[in-house]
Amino acid sequence: MWFKILAGTVVCLTLLLFEAYVFTSLPSGTKYKVYRFQFAIVLNLVFYAGSKHLWQRVVKDVLEDSTPNIVKCTWKSIVMFFLVLAHISPFTTNFVTREPTWLNMAAWTCFGAYILLFAMLVPLDYFFKFLRKTSRIKFFSSRKISLFVVVTITLCSVMAFQTAVQAPRIISVEVPIAKLAPSMDKMRIGLISDIHLGPTVGYTQLKRVVDMTNALNPDIVVFSGDLMDATLADVDGAATPLAELKAPYGKYFATGNHEYYTGDIENWFKALESYGFVVLHNSNRKILSKSNPNDWICILGTDDIQADQIRYEGHGMDLSKAYRGCDLSHPAILIAHQPKAAQIALDSEFSIQLILSGHTHGGQMYPIIWLCYLVNPFMSGLYRPKEDSYVYVSQGSVYYGFPLRWGTYPEITNITLRAT
Ligand SMILES: [Fe+2]
Repeated sequence: MWFKILAGTVVCLTLLLFEAYVFTSLPSGTKYKVYRFQFAIVLNLVFYAGSKHLWQRVVKDVLEDSTPNIVKCTWKSIVMFFLVLAHISPFTTNFVTREPTWLNMAAWTCFGAYILLFAMLVPLDYFFKFLRKTSRIKFFSSRKISLFVVVTITLCSVMAFQTAVQAPRIISVEVPIAKLAPSMDKMRIGLISDIHLGPTVGYTQLKRVVDMTNALNPDIVVFSGDLMDATLADVDGAATPLAELKAPYGKYFATGNHEYYTGDIENWFKALESYGFVVLHNSNRKILSKSNPNDWICILGTDDIQADQIRYEGHGMDLSKAYRGCDLSHPAILIAHQPKAAQIALDSEFSIQLILSGHTHGGQMYPIIWLCYLVNPFMSGLYRPKEDSYVYVSQGSVYYGFPLRWGTYPEITNITLRAT
């Protein structure tokens, strides 16, 4: 036991030293690839303990002496294959192609199912342990609990996979906007968020989102961050469907936290601009009414707050800079990726009528939903935290990492602005 703790500590210290002395001299793209590799190693240390427990509960406790050898071998092979795939999933972040490979999809699905197995197995184990201790009644054996959990989670994973890979739902909402001129009443925003182009999301999924958004004929398109989980070169043209998005009043983008994990933000900004997007890097644009140029909406976007935390050079949330040029007599719509950033904006002195966020994925699946609820001030959907201020949090238009959704669904939001 102490040996494992010591080994884990040594590995973590080595990684920290590496970060302090070696990474500083690496070019940005390479540095972030090493970061991701480092993260995968640390995650595998956690997996090590988890997989040992799972092997005990799902293999040793399930197979009996009387079980035929062929069944034993098959079951052990299946579980081993499942665990190996889950273990390699974090390493696939450095092996991204235009379309997700079957290996990437299988590895991340196993990672998601691994989380679900633990989320069900551990509480049930403790629950029945407690019942056995406090009661004389014989409850289910460990073997029966394991079998029940494996069957249930397998079925849940299949359903969660289907939900995640399905076409996004169109969610239509009307938002009353104070100070919106009658000439701009009923303007519509197509809101896309959290595509996460990377190991498990590629060209085809983005193309579907773009086609569905175009079918809504939005006046404005907003992308509220987390487009990518890889460098522009790695995704090999997977982002090009963004150029096909049509919006007569413009397409606007602000960064999410995952943009910064790629270490390739400058190349991504250039690409987004070439696809016709206005990148709101702590800046704003005025959207003028076509019938009366004195009527306008100020659309502003801030860098994601994670840029401050990881000290990404030249980036960080700067609301004062983003708001400069907007004024109190015209409505302001802010793109701020994280709900925490939306809360910062609501607490500020600036008058903002609508904040568009993403990031949470609505929690994506149980049990992460509960954790997500605890750490975010807004989870998903429309909120009215102030008399004249609304926050809309998208559940994301695809998924992040594991292609599983349970209790949530991918969405494209069709927002209609209404004059009050
Ligand atoms: Fe995010």
